[in-house]
Amino acid sequence: MPGVATAILDNGMAEMTFTQAQQRAAALRREINALRYRYHVLDDPAVTDEVYDSLTAELRTLEAKFPQLVTPDSPTQRIGGKPLDKFHPVVHAVRMLSLNDEFSPDEVSAWEQRIKKLAPAARWDYICELKFDGLATSLVYKDGMLVTGATRGDGKTGEDITANLKTIRAIPLRLNLELTHTDKFPAALVSRLRQGLAKTGRIEVRGEALMSKAAFARLNQAHPDATFANPRNAAAGSLRQLDPKITATRQLSWYAYSLVTDLGQRTHEEEHLFCAMLGFQVHGELRVVPDLQGVFALHEEIRRSRERLPFEVDGVVVQVNEVDVFRRLGVVGKAPRGAVAFKFAARKATTVVEDIVIQVGRTGALTPVANLRPVNVGGVTISRSTLHNVDEIERLGLKIGDTVVVQRAGDVIPQIVEVLTKLRSGRERAFKMPEKCPNCGSPVTRQRIAEGATLGTRFTCTNRRCTTQQLRTLRHFTSKTAFDIEGLGPKILTKLFSEGLIADASDIFKLTAGDLAVLPGLGEKSAANLITSIENHRTVSLARFIYSLGILHVGEQTALDLAKNFYRLSRLRQASVDAIDAVPNIGTTVAQSVAAYFRDRANQRFVDKLLAAGVKIAHEASAGSGGALAGKKVVVTGTLQRFSRAQAKAAIRKAGGRTVESVSGATDFVVGGEKPGSKMDDARRLGVKILTEDEFTALVGPPAL
Ligand code: IVH
Repeated sequence: MPGVATAILDNGMAEMTFTQAQQRAAALRREINALRYRYHVLDDPAVTDEVYDSLTAELRTLEAKFPQLVTPDSPTQRIGGKPLDKFHPVVHAVRMLSLNDEFSPDEVSAWEQRIKKLAPAARWDYICELKFDGLATSLVYKDGMLVTGATRGDGKTGEDITANLKTIRAIPLRLNLELTHTDKFPAALVSRLRQGLAKTGRIEVRGEALMSKAAFARLNQAHPDATFANPRNAAAGSLRQLDPKITATRQLSWYAYSLVTDLGQRTHEEEHLFCAMLGFQVHGELRVVPDLQGVFALHEEIRRSRERLPFEVDGVVVQVNEVDVFRRLGVVGKAPRGAVAFKFAARKATTVVEDIVIQVGRTGALTPVANLRPVNVGGVTISRSTLHNVDEIERLGLKIGDTVVVQRAGDVIPQIVEVLTKLRSGRERAFKMPEKCPNCGSPVTRQRIAEGATLGTRFTCTNRRCTTQQLRTLRHFTSKTAFDIEGLGPKILTKLFSEGLIADASDIFKLTAGDLAVLPGLGEKSAANLITSIENHRTVSLARFIYSLGILHVGEQTALDLAKNFYRLSRLRQASVDAIDAVPNIGTTVAQSVAAYFRDRANQRFVDKLLAAGVKIAHEASAGSGGALAGKKVVVTGTLQRFSRAQAKAAIRKAGGRTVESVSGATDFVVGGEKPGSKMDDARRLGVKILTEDEFTALVGPPAL
């Protein structure tokens, strides 16, 4: 896309007349909307995120110059407005129902019997789709513009979370009322929708807001003392932020599953197609089957492949496809008769909480952890389960000695989901957070964290030198993704630390073979090897250096983004919150954390000590935009012959690309080696371009040594 991929310079714009600016803004908006449509609706991204972001940036600059040009549906208006002081209630025009759960083919067959009795003459197909494990939301559009986005609430009244929902790119701010880009849909359907649209200006669409497993992992990495139990809770917490800027950083997803307004749809399948034509993201896994045999087969198929989906699903929604039959079947209680949730059996077991202990995290956060009587849950023995924070303990009503239900869901760590209070003997003990750090005895501070209801209360050890904290910081520092010092594993590190040979990471670089040889159990040879290993890792990239510092909220990718944008440590050390906030992919919370880190005296001394101890930062030439993989998202899977995993990743970055772990519609390439596994299946299913090792080498060159 020549000429538009770079933001126009300020002085270029100054010469623009208002009319020219108006035309340019309209053209930009059209193009940005078209790109969004291709990405989310057609699952056929035309350009990379960078191009999208760059066009949006140009539009933002233009609108800043000519504020009259701002329209409410402008793509720049996704993140805007002041933080709210509370959410306002929204009364749903049509009640938001829920679904009855069924857990077995027998239960689903019984449901079929019931509805057959109620509609003996009717014939229907079943339509099956994923049951997303997120939150039900409703969107109302007037004359094509998104006016209200709300939670389900009690079904009758929800909360107005419009500003937060607007930050989700999968949600259109303006509907595609013109029905452009619909040539892939049946012409008769397009024309029926056009007629339907002519009759009404108000359109309501419902769907699920959710957080992908990848976004959840990123969130947990950014918040090392993770407080969200699973992606669903994280999505809920993100949508309950009063400041939409925070929601925007959470990268939520959204899938439409029902069109409330009658636009002439005759089947539920057509509802999905209508939603897609209007600009909503709908999931491709949608199947119409003639009978329950088909339903059972699909349920089994999805159950087996669910781990490979980029987000959590907890079952299959099965409904009568024909809209007229569905309506005639009506509602019983809070659920429609014509649909059920055919859930997957959760992997659950019961056990006893023998104790609740405190773990002191790298950032000083105190996290309660349950020690469990070991129990097998779905083939894995579990003996510990994090309780996240006191709020979680209160929510569960958990006491030490309680019998509990533990659950392993998807890829998520096992968690306690329920307390079986009926089994109490009376000898259970309530748990209290300690007032002193269990590790160093220093006072503990108690804080409500601002980031939403689910994050809750946080207890932190006030002692910066608390041993556990320090040890964890050291471990982080030497870990594979940081300084990667071989031979300096947790055991040796702990030994060196308790022998007083190292107090902080800078001391590592002052160690001598003699220092090490005195340690019990470490022979002369191993000591010499270790010193060589330290010597070899004195020099690191800026990104690794930043990552190694263990700054709150700064994971590997954030460290890379910072390095790419500041080039030199000295520049990052002096950067203001605003300057850091301006870096793409970095939000205010992270920016504040980074700036605060470098403003702190003790941290400044620590960084100086590292440099004085001979740590060197290799300033690589910045990847720029000209690399062979500029702006591309690349997944590496399987074993490559020439490249180690780390070399492949480095090569991708050097060529301007970004490495990602899981394959999605947004992935540009999958590099497949031997025994590639499920990521390759995902790539094929999603139509992501697959590169052989040879093709990859041709693009990026041979591995660096
Ligand atoms: S249809 C009558 N389709 O499941 C409700 N719901 O209890 C119509 N859900 O909270 C819902 N994926 O948010 C439908 N593909 C899907 C869904 C889905 C997830 C959620 C929904 C609601 C719950 C139903």
